[in-house]
Amino acid sequence: MEQLLPILIQEYNVLKQYAKEFYKQTSMHEYTKSFDIFDTAILVSIISVLGLWALRNLRFPNKDYNQSFFGYFKAQIFIFLVNYCPGVNSYIEKQKAIALESFSSSMEKMTSKKTLKIPENGIDSDTMMDKMNEWIERDSKHNGSGKVSGSLYVMPDKQFIKNAQDFCKHFIYSNPMHADLWPATRQMEAEVIRMTGDLFGQEKEGIGIVTTGGTESIILAMLAYRNWGESQKGINKPNIVIPETAHSAFYRAGEYFKIQVRVAKIDQSSFQVDINDLRAKIDSNTVCIVGSFPNFGYGTSDPIEQLASIAKKKKIGLHVDACLGGFTAVFAKDHGVDLGKFDFTLDGVTSISCDQHKHGLAPKGVSTVLFKTKQLREHAFFSLATWSGGAYAVPSMQGSKCGANVAGAWFTLQSIGKKKYIDYSKKIMDATQSLVKSLSEIPEIKVFGNPQINCVAFMSKETWLNVYAIHEILTHQGWTISSVQKPAGIHISLTLQNIGNLKQYVHDIKAAIEKIKANPKEYKKGGEMGTVYGTTQRIPDSKLANQAIKVYLDSLLKI
Ligand SMILES: Cc1ncc(COP(=O)(O)O)c(C=O)c1O
Repeated sequence: MEQLLPILIQEYNVLKQYAKEFYKQTSMHEYTKSFDIFDTAILVSIISVLGLWALRNLRFPNKDYNQSFFGYFKAQIFIFLVNYCPGVNSYIEKQKAIALESFSSSMEKMTSKKTLKIPENGIDSDTMMDKMNEWIERDSKHNGSGKVSGSLYVMPDKQFIKNAQDFCKHFIYSNPMHADLWPATRQMEAEVIRMTGDLFGQEKEGIGIVTTGGTESIILAMLAYRNWGESQKGINKPNIVIPETAHSAFYRAGEYFKIQVRVAKIDQSSFQVDINDLRAKIDSNTVCIVGSFPNFGYGTSDPIEQLASIAKKKKIGLHVDACLGGFTAVFAKDHGVDLGKFDFTLDGVTSISCDQHKHGLAPKGVSTVLFKTKQLREHAFFSLATWSGGAYAVPSMQGSKCGANVAGAWFTLQSIGKKKYIDYSKKIMDATQSLVKSLSEIPEIKVFGNPQINCVAFMSKETWLNVYAIHEILTHQGWTISSVQKPAGIHISLTLQNIGNLKQYVHDIKAAIEKIKANPKEYKKGGEMGTVYGTTQRIPDSKLANQAIKVYLDSLLKI
C-alpha cells in the first residue's frame, strides 16, 4: 500500500492535467472563467442533485441473462425510439390496433348471439339447455376428427366420458379448502397425491400438492426452491438453470418471483440439454436445475440421471417436468421399454410435475407437483397465522377451489386402473416410434432428436421449404397442430384421439411438400405462422415482442 499510494497520486495528477487541458479547449471554459468559489459550490450542488435524481429515476431495464451487450444496446435504442420519437409510438399503436382487429374478427367467426348483460329475469331451464346443446355441438367440431395435437387426451369412449361427467358434477359446489364441510374432496386430493407419488417412487407416503395444471405445478415448485434457497442458503438473488426447451411456465415463475432464469443450450443433434453449458451456468445463487421428460416443443427428454448427479453434487434442487410425459413414461417399463430413471428413485431428483389432465386422461384442471421431502414442499405452502380474517393456510395458488377438478382426477385414476394405463402407454409409445420412422423416410424433413414418449416434431432440411408452409397447408385441411420456433418446426402431441390417424398425417405432410415443391415462391414466407414468427423475431426487444403478442389476449377477452 505504501508503494502503491504515490503511484496512484501521480496517475491522478496526470489524469487531472489531461482533463484540465481538454476543458480549456471547450467553450465552457469561457463561461466559467469568472466563477468564484460560491458559483462553483452552487454548480457542484446542482450537478449532484441532478445526478442523484437521475440515479433514482432513470431505471434501465435489466439485461436478459443470455442477451449480448450489443443486443441490449440495440433494444434500448429501439425502446427509446418507440417512447420518444414522435410517430414511432403511434405507428406501433396503429399496428397493434390492426392486429387486434384481425384477431378479433377471427374470434367473431366463432362467436354467436352475444350476451352483454345479465337478463332482467332469469332464463328458463329449457332455453338454457338448448343453449348448452348448441354450444356443445359447436365446440365438438374437432372431437373425433383425429386431427388435433394434444388438447383432448382422453380415449374416444363416450360412456367413459359420460361417467366422468356424472361423477364430477356432484362436486362442482364443493371446496376442498373447507375440509370440514367437504371431507370427500379433501380425501380425494390426498389420495390423488398418494396414487401419483406411488408411480414416481414415493413408496411410503405421497408428498405433493394438487394444482390446476402443469403451469401452476411448475410455478409452485420454483416458489419452493426460491424460498428454500433464501431460508437455507441465504440466497437473495436466486437463479434457476433450465434447458432452452423447458416449458414457458419456468419463465413465468421467474417473472412472478424475481428469479433469474438462465437458459442452457440444446445439443443440436439430440435436442437434449447441453450438459456442459448447463453445468457452466450454475453458480452459488442457483437454487435448482430443470429437465423435461419430455419437453413440449420437440418431444425429446433431457438426461435426467446426469442432471440428478449434478444436482446432488452441487447440493441444489432438480425439478423434472413430466407434465406431458409422466403418465406415459411411468408405465413404459411395464410394457418392456427402458427409458432410464427419471423419478425419486434417483437421489438428485427433488421435485416432479405430472398432469392428470393430460395423459392421466382426467377432465381439465388438475395436475400434481410432487416433492422429495415435506420440508421442501412446505416452502411452496402459504400461511398467515395473524390474518384478521382468521389463521389462514393454503397449499397452492388458489384460495377457494372447485372440488370437481380433483374428483375428476380421482375418478379417472380409479376407474381406468393400472392395466389400462399400461396398455395406453404402449399404444402411444408405439405410435410415437412408428411416426418417427415414417417421418424420417421423407427426404425433405428431419425429426428433431429421438423422441420416445408422446410427441414428435420435425424441421425442414431444404432451403426452398419453409416448414411453416406445411403447417399452413395442413391447417387448411383441418389439422390443429403446433408450430415451434428456434429452430422452426412442426409438432404433434400424440393422444388416444389421434394415434389412429397418423398415416393420414404423414400422407398429408408428403402431399403438402409436393405442393410447395411445385410452387416454392408462393410458399416462401410460410403463411400466417411464418409471418407471426418472422415479425416477432425481428423486434429487437423481447419485452416489446411480448407486448405485441399480448394483443391476442385482448382479442380473447373482448366481446
Ligand atoms: C412439458 C410441459 N410442461 C408443462 C406444461 C404446462 O401444462 P398446462 O398447460 O397444463 O399448464 C405443458 C403443457 O403442454 C408441457 O407440455
